[in-house]
Amino acid sequence: MINKKIEQAFNKQINAETYSAYLYWSMSAALEKMNLSGFANWMRVQAQEEMVHASIFYKHIIERDGTVKLTAIDAPPVKWDSVKAVFEAALKHERLVTGLINDLVDLALQEKDHAANMLLQWFVNEQIEEEKNAADILGQLAIAGDTAGGLYLLDKEKATRVFTPPAAGQEA
Ligand code: FEO
Repeated sequence: MINKKIEQAFNKQINAETYSAYLYWSMSAALEKMNLSGFANWMRVQAQEEMVHASIFYKHIIERDGTVKLTAIDAPPVKWDSVKAVFEAALKHERLVTGLINDLVDLALQEKDHAANMLLQWFVNEQIEEEKNAADILGQLAIAGDTAGGLYLLDKEKATRVFTPPAAGQEA
């Protein structure tokens, strides 16, 4: 049986992860409007990953005989000024999510919920990757994003990203 405080916090995290998917989906649409369909593809894959993150918490609550309680998702922004602004906002958002995951780890330790703590360790690592991905793209944009040719090549490369489900044991 899942600890009630953890259940409540994990339900909140389902909302946060689903909001992340919503945010990246909105960013993807904005990138399409900038005629950057490769970056838009990258963001849609990111949105898919976020729904997997939400599903991992969802599945954990169910497996431990808890109650999944879905709540309303906030509307994300619609417009950004540039591709750089999109990825700056994405990095800022991932840093916020890292903080949420760290708070969940603190709660799991405080409540001595080892199963929740084990699950969260995957997310601790995942957040390193999530922040790095956004920061790497900002770095690439700083090098090549100011010229039409450079941006074109980066966009072509981002078009190749495909969704890969997370490692065994963590799939939704
Ligand atoms: Fe679910 Fe991008 O963190």
